[in-house]
Amino acid sequence: MIEQRKLGPVVGLGTYGTFDDDADTATRVLGAALDSGATLVDSSPMYGGAEQSLAAALAGRRDAAVVATKIWTPDVDEGRAQYARQQRWFGRVEIEQVHNLVAWREHLAWLERERDEGRIDRLGVTHYDANAFEELETALRTGHFDTVQVPLNPRERECERRILPLAEELGIAVIVMRPLGGKVRGAWLRGSLLRRDPGPRALEPLRPFGVETWPQALLAWALSDPRVDVVIPATSRPERARTNVAVGSPPWLGDDERALVSRLAGAA
Ligand SMILES: NC(=O)c1ccc[n+]([C@@H]2O[C@H](COP(=O)([O-])OP(=O)(O)OC[C@H]3O[C@@H](n4cnc5c(N)ncnc54)[C@H](OP(=O)(O)O)[C@@H]3O)[C@@H](O)[C@H]2O)c1
Repeated sequence: MIEQRKLGPVVGLGTYGTFDDDADTATRVLGAALDSGATLVDSSPMYGGAEQSLAAALAGRRDAAVVATKIWTPDVDEGRAQYARQQRWFGRVEIEQVHNLVAWREHLAWLERERDEGRIDRLGVTHYDANAFEELETALRTGHFDTVQVPLNPRERECERRILPLAEELGIAVIVMRPLGGKVRGAWLRGSLLRRDPGPRALEPLRPFGVETWPQALLAWALSDPRVDVVIPATSRPERARTNVAVGSPPWLGDDERALVSRLAGAA
């Protein structure tokens, strides 16, 4: 298959619920991730003090990171204020995403000017809920977005139906949120699939692919779809950041190995 990925493939780092107002944790976790080969780090004004902690953690190594953050507000003036703070914290924003499609039409005009003038590299859009994928498709079809961020794990595969094929058709980079699971019987629970760890013996067929642990199996499962550019697991522990990032290179899982991970995750 021809390699078509635009940003990755790479395991990046999420910051939701882990960086908060804790610059010390952010510095240790981000340091471990970057040292292990991660590039992209994802944040948002929605994540408490995560952006500010990330900015502190980036001191001295800003050039090593691709900062993907978000605008999250229905109000254009507030969106511009969020962006002004991000410019102060990060110098520039490589990937600016409209969080959960909030007022995406209203934000697009000013964000495109920022991109055209070279202060943003790529514009993106995100949504965590498959019920919003129709609108997500509408946004992508405008041709104005370069990245899309959606959930993908063996128990949440709705994006495979329309979003991933559309991203491939339009040359849009795909960032995967919640690769370790998110929805259990209709309720949200971060890392929900981690509870299904089948143990080392069941994972033996995955060893030739560099997979030693269950979280690595889930990350490799998502990143082995050639339409996926980046997976962004969040963690508060540096050693986990290291082992997560370690599966961000070939060989990729084939159909048989991906089917095994799906079965172990309890997917049909
Ligand atoms: N609408 C949106 O745009 C949207 C929505 C949701 C998420 N996101 C983005 O996607 C990122 C990822 O999603 P997420 O944070 O919800 O979920 P996730 O990354 O799938 O799961 C995070 C959980 O997994 C645990 N974990 C991570 N690595 C582990 C490992 N190797 N072993 C054991 N446990 C591990 C973490 O706990 P520990 O801290 O204890 O390691 C944390 O509780 C977010 O941080 C955010 O950047 C975006």
